[in-house]
Amino acid sequence: MNSAQRPKRRWARWTALGTAAVLLAATGAFGIFYLQAQLDTVGKVDFATRMAIPPLAPSTTDADGTRRFDLAVQEGETRFLDGQATRTWGVNGTFLGPTIRAAKGEKVAFTVRNGVSEATSLHWHGMHLPADMDGGPHQTVEPGATWRPQWTISQQAATLWYHPHLHGKTANHVYRGVAGMFILDDERTAGLNLPDEYGVDDLPVIVQDRAFDGDNQFDETAPLLSTGGVFGDEILVNGTRGPFADVSTRLVRLRLLNASNARLYNFGFSDDRPFQLIGTDGGLLPKAWETTRLQLTPGERAEIVVAFAPGETVDLRSYPAGSDFNSRMNGAADRLDLVRFRAADSLRDGTEVPRNLGTAPDLAGAEIAQTRSFELNSRNINGARMDMNRIDFGVRVGSTEVWEVVNTNGYMHNFHVHDVQFQVLDVDGQAPPPHLSGWKDTVQLEPDRKHRLAMKFSDFTNPDVPYMYHCHLMLHEDEGMMGQFVVLREGEQVGKVSGHQHR
Ligand code: C2O
Ligand code: CU
Ligand code: CU
Repeated sequence: MNSAQRPKRRWARWTALGTAAVLLAATGAFGIFYLQAQLDTVGKVDFATRMAIPPLAPSTTDADGTRRFDLAVQEGETRFLDGQATRTWGVNGTFLGPTIRAAKGEKVAFTVRNGVSEATSLHWHGMHLPADMDGGPHQTVEPGATWRPQWTISQQAATLWYHPHLHGKTANHVYRGVAGMFILDDERTAGLNLPDEYGVDDLPVIVQDRAFDGDNQFDETAPLLSTGGVFGDEILVNGTRGPFADVSTRLVRLRLLNASNARLYNFGFSDDRPFQLIGTDGGLLPKAWETTRLQLTPGERAEIVVAFAPGETVDLRSYPAGSDFNSRMNGAADRLDLVRFRAADSLRDGTEVPRNLGTAPDLAGAEIAQTRSFELNSRNINGARMDMNRIDFGVRVGSTEVWEVVNTNGYMHNFHVHDVQFQVLDVDGQAPPPHLSGWKDTVQLEPDRKHRLAMKFSDFTNPDVPYMYHCHLMLHEDEGMMGQFVVLREGEQVGKVSGHQHR
C-alpha cells in the first residue's frame, strides 16, 4: 500500500463507522419518536376545573323584529396552566366566543368589530345565507373596522359554529381562540321532548387541542412528519383544561363540535356505554342511531344524548381511530381523556329521545342538473390551489348537483361546502352509514373512497361573490386546498371577484 492510500482508507473506515453510528442513532431516535407519537392521556387528566359553558350572546330586538348581536374580536390573556397566562384571542371575551342562538324565520343582524391588530373575518359555518354575508376570505374586517352582516334564518334547527376564515390565516386565528357555537332552533324540534335546557341538560362541547411552549404560550409548530399541522397534547373543552361537568338529569344532550385545527376525535365513554346520535351538521337525523363511538373531523358537529345513572362518574374520551403510520403521525392513534361527567345522587327524568326525530334528506330522487368531480391531493383540489381571483365554476340557482369527491392522498382530508347542507348519497357505491344519513356540510374523506354528495342551490345568486369549498384541516385550507363557486341566475355568467379587502 502506498502512503496516499492509507489515510484515505482510514477516512473511509471512519466515515462508514460514522454513518453507521448516525444511522443507528437516527433509527433509535425515530423509534422513540414513533412510539411517542402515540399519545395516551387516560388517567393523566385531573378533571379539577368546572367545564365553562359559553354564555348565550345577548341580543336586542328592533321594531321590525330583527335580532341584533354585537360581537367584538379581541385580544386578551387566559390562564390555562400554573404560572404565566396565555396570550389568546376571543369574541366578547379572552378565549372562544358566546353561543349565538336564533330560530328559523328570524332575521338576525350583527356588528362584528375587529379589535385585534390584524385583519380577520367571521364565517358562519353551516349557514345558508347570501355569499356577501358568509364571512369568508372576501369579507375580511380590517383592524378597528366593523362589519355588519344580516340575513334571515331559513334552515332547520341545527348546531352550527362561527370562526375566522381569511385566506392563509384561518388556522392561526382559530388556534388563538376565535370560534363559537351558533345554535338554531325551530318549532318542530322545540316540540320534541329532547333535553334542551342550555347549560343544564343541553351542553355545548367544543373540543380543541393545544400545545404549549415553555412560556405557557400556544405553540403552533407542526410535529415532525405530521401532514395535518399542529397536534396539541392538551385538550381544551369550551376553553377549559381538565374539565368536569356536573349533571342533574338522566338524559343529557351534548353538542359536540370539533373546533381543532387538524385532530380527528373518535368519541366514546370510558365504560363504552352506548349513546344516541340524534343530529349531525345540518340538524336532526330522521332516527336516532345508537353507537359507542363517533368520529368527527375538524369542522364537523354532532348532537348526542347520553343516559346517566344517579351518583356515577363517567368520562368522555377520544379513542384511537387507527394505528397505521399516518394515524400515528397525525394524532389519530391517540387516546385522550376529554371531560368527566359527575351525575347527582338524584336525577330529574323528564325528557326522551323520540322514535322519529327530523326528516330524511330527500335529494336522492331529485333531477340532477350537473355532476362534478373533485379530487383532493397534496394541497390541491383538481390539481389547483386556491386563488382569490379565480372562480372555479358557477351553479344554477334552483338546481340540484351531485359532487363526487375523492381523496387520493393516502392521509386524512375532509370536505366542506359553504351555503348548503348536502346529502351523502353513497360512499364507494355503498349506502351511507347511519352517521352520514342526515344533512351534512363537512364530511371526512377516507382515502380513495368516492363520496357522492347531493346538494341543492335554492337561492342567493351573486355572480361576483363566491362561496368556498375546501378541506377543513385548517392548515390544508390555508395552504390552498380550497376553491370558489358562485350561484347564478338563469342566463347569468360567472362574474369577476371584485372589491374584496385582503391583507
Ligand atoms: Cu368552517 Cu369554510 O369553513
Ligand atoms: Cu363553512
Ligand atoms: Cu386536507
